[in-house]
Formats: sequence, C-alpha cells, structure tokens
Amino acid sequence: MLTQALQAIRYFAANPRYTVLYQFGSSSAVCSQVFRQPRARYALLAGELKQDPRFGHQLSHNFSATVHETFTLNEDHGFIYALVRLGKPKLIVETGVFDGVFSACFLQGLHVNATQDGVEGSLISIDLPAYEPIAASTNRMLRTNLPKGREPGWVIPDYLRPRWQLHLGDSRELLPRIGHQAGDIDLFFHDSLHTYAHMMFEYQTVWPLLKPGALLLSHDFHWNRAFRDFSREHRQRDLVAHGFGIVRKT
Ligand SMILES: C[S@@+](CC[C@H](N)C(=O)[O-])C[C@H]1O[C@@H](n2cnc3c(N)ncnc32)[C@H](O)[C@@H]1O
Repeated sequence: MLTQALQAIRYFAANPRYTVLYQFGSSSAVCSQVFRQPRARYALLAGELKQDPRFGHQLSHNFSATVHETFTLNEDHGFIYALVRLGKPKLIVETGVFDGVFSACFLQGLHVNATQDGVEGSLISIDLPAYEPIAASTNRMLRTNLPKGREPGWVIPDYLRPRWQLHLGDSRELLPRIGHQAGDIDLFFHDSLHTYAHMMFEYQTVWPLLKPGALLLSHDFHWNRAFRDFSREHRQRDLVAHGFGIVRKT
C-alpha cells in the first residue's frame, strides 16, 4: 500500500500536467476536443446510458445475484459509451476484461449505433482470466479475482453478446496475431497488465494497426510513464480524463 502511494506521489510530482488533468480534467472537455463536438452533445450521449431501460438494470441484477455487490453507473461508464456513440467505430479491440463492465459499455454503444443509426461494429477482447489475483493488474481492485466458476465478461447482458468475440490468454502472445488478423482498428483500449513494459508493448503493437483518426485509449495510464513516453515518442497530442489517457492518431 505504502509502495503504491509513494509510486503515485513520485509519478504525479514528475508529471504536473497529468496531475491537474487527473484531478480536474473533464470527460466532456476531452470528448469535445477529440471529436470537435459541443460539450452538450457529449452530455446528451453519456446520459443515454443511464436512461436505457435494460442496461443498468441487467448489470445491477447480475452483480447482486452473483457477488452480492451493488452496481451504479458512473462517469467513466458514460465516457466509454459516449466515445463509441460519437466515434461510431466499426472495430474495437480491448485487452483486460475482468467482470466485463467496460466491455459492456463498449457493446452497448455499438448496439445503439447499429439499432438507431444503422452503423454496425464489433468488439474483440483479450483477457488472461484472473482466477487468482494478478500483480500490477487486478491486485488494486476491490475484488481481485473473478467469481468462482465465472469466465471474463460474465456480467455482460446476453442481448449484447452477438457483437462480441473473446480470446482467453496473455495479450503479449495473442495481441500481435489477433490484431493483425483484425486489421484496421478504430479504437484500442488497454486495461490489462499495467507494467511499463507491457503497456508499451501493447501500444507499440497496435499503433500500426490503428486507422488514421483512430483512438488509443488507456486506463490507469498514470501507473507508470509508458503512456507519456509513448505519446511523446510518436509526437501525438495526449489528453487525459480521470483515469483515462487518450491519443487520436493523426
Ligand atoms: C483492471 S482489470 C480490467 C477491468 C475491466 N476492464 C473492467 O471493465 O472492469 C485487468 C484485467 O486484465 C487481465 N490481465 C492481466 N494480465 C493480462 C495479460 N498479460 N494479458 C491479458 N489480460 C491480462 C486481468 O486478468 C484482468 O481481467
């Protein structure tokens, strides 16, 4: 615990811009910069998620029935969903699924894009299942492993599964092959193993596979300097909203 706190203090002292954005950066400001859309449009779309009659209800039901946990939709969920509604990606690739809450938000965005706007899209996920806690990954979560007998993404409602493909294994082995097979990625999301080497490996692997204008989104970007070093190395403008780092490939 102490080591983690010291690590965070050291990181934020060395990166004052990220510190301010992490504390005060707003998701609506980031989305409007990325998509050049008014903030009001972001607010409208992020709000759709809460208003959906099935989504929040089914996630809450799945959590309370399986692990007796309460589930509440928060700003991060609205952010992920709004990115999909605004960007209309055809292909999303993510690493790190765990229960599947963010995956469900991506899939709900794809579902609404298809049913309301006629734009089809799919999500490919890679996850090394956390049957036991994984250091530098799930060990800082409130629950550090999957519920007994459950596979990654167990919380995802059935009506969202047709647009989803899950691959089980280490992304260090799977991402290069699956990424190349998939090609032309519109949005890549990192949320797997948050070591410097692994984050850098995932960013570097997918970068050539991202279309121009595609998004590279990283959760827990502040655990180390990989996100900062990567965006500098590639001369890309990096934006930050709470725990998310985001780069739009120019
Ligand atoms: C922080 S959790 C992901 C949380 C998830 N995105 C959500 O919405 O709650 C990290 C996930 O990455 C997985 N993971 C850890 N190391 C991995 C690796 N080398 N390759 C793929 N997945 C990994 C863990 O098992 C865990 O499911």
